[in-house]
Amino acid sequence: MRISVIGCGYLGATHAAAMADLGHEVLGMETDPGRRATLARGEVPMYEPGLAAMLSAAVGTGRLRFTDSYADVAAFADLHFLCVGTPQSPESLAADVSQVVTAVEGLAPHLDRPALVVGKSTVPVGTAQRLSLTLAELAPAGAEAMLAWNPEFLREGFALQDTLHPDRIVLGVADGRAEKVLRDFYAPMIDDGSPVVVTDLATAELVKVAANAFLATKISFVNAMAEVCEATGADVVDLADAIGHDDRIGRRFLNAGIGFGGGCLPKDIRAFVHRAGELGVEDAMSFLRHVDDINQRQRERVVKVATAMVGGRLDGAQVGVWGAAFKPDSDDVRDSPALWVAGQLHLGGAGVRIYDPRANASAARVFPPLEYAESAVEAARGAHLVLHLTEWPEFREITPGDLDDVVSRRRLFDGRNVLDLDAWRSAGWTARAVGRPER
Ligand code: UGA
Repeated sequence: MRISVIGCGYLGATHAAAMADLGHEVLGMETDPGRRATLARGEVPMYEPGLAAMLSAAVGTGRLRFTDSYADVAAFADLHFLCVGTPQSPESLAADVSQVVTAVEGLAPHLDRPALVVGKSTVPVGTAQRLSLTLAELAPAGAEAMLAWNPEFLREGFALQDTLHPDRIVLGVADGRAEKVLRDFYAPMIDDGSPVVVTDLATAELVKVAANAFLATKISFVNAMAEVCEATGADVVDLADAIGHDDRIGRRFLNAGIGFGGGCLPKDIRAFVHRAGELGVEDAMSFLRHVDDINQRQRERVVKVATAMVGGRLDGAQVGVWGAAFKPDSDDVRDSPALWVAGQLHLGGAGVRIYDPRANASAARVFPPLEYAESAVEAARGAHLVLHLTEWPEFREITPGDLDDVVSRRRLFDGRNVLDLDAWRSAGWTARAVGRPER
């Protein structure tokens, strides 16, 4: 099929490349000239495993092209995917939906034949209904220009796998015609076993924020347990393993650590709280404020522990930090707890040398004053404390022997609960972690 993808950021670039890979003809619409030129050369402006190869192959075959013109997009395809960003508004907790509104207002006047516009961006519930009215009003095709909502659940680091093998396909539709078009479009995934949930526009919008709110709640739940474990000498990893064996609870997203970050979970729960307030159901969603507070407190607690581990004063202390991205297999530092902790230690007077396998450049753009190292060992040079803050696999390969002659003091803090603390302790290191006994 011929499709357009409007907005070629993380979601859009992935969707465009993956759909072209499946054999569709794709026209990507991107208003940022730098990003558009990069994509048109077959390059990807962020790190996502496998995406650069898939996108450049799709551009090479001619099945994926880019434009900045809504007229081109409307002439090219009758199925349009809206993938623009909905960041947190600078003034409040709300999501800023201006890019979605601008896209629909830009596209609609060119829709002079039947078309389906499919929103994939994460939006506050009620947005799709408003957009349908805009579409009907501005499109020459009138009611033949339809809107559907099809939220995306891809995770950074697994974006291609999640796009090509989604664990569910949610179709928010106003009538059966839109459902038919989308079922045909997603036939390879549906035939492959991805379950389909067909619902209305509002439910489809809510499914996405509810899923992210649940995941955030799970993480903050286990992080709250970590604090209780620290107060009682209990072990949060054993606790998570034990409760996770209950299928009703499940072990995934129960890893205690420095908390969640990124461009989605933090802003989505805030936007949800804000929207609930507008809808008069703020009390029902007020627990999400606690989820956010627990998450913020995790970061602050790590700064306190780090300060205590270097003897109570950051001034004059040297700290080596492993990891800047909000999670491994990503160079994304948006709301990254690792970079936040590193930044606070620096502001508190410590010398901070940080290393991330992929995110040094993006972190340096956001926080230039830190010292950026070329390797984990270099980050640890002369350190009075090493902090492990993003769980890249390469950090697990490092042994005490690699660092014994590099650091000033043998002290390690594992902010992600994946290092073998016993191995470090038996080599003479002081090793601590979130929610685990000091032994
Ligand atoms: C999240 C959701 O998982 C996706 O389903 C969703 O599509 C996406 O947001 C989105 O809204 O676009 P993502 O932001 O890529 O995906 O990252 P996650 O894998 O959810 O991780 C979020 C944060 O939680 C990371 O900082 C991670 O380190 C942290 N985390 C995760 C924990 O602290 N503990 C865990 O057990 C799991």
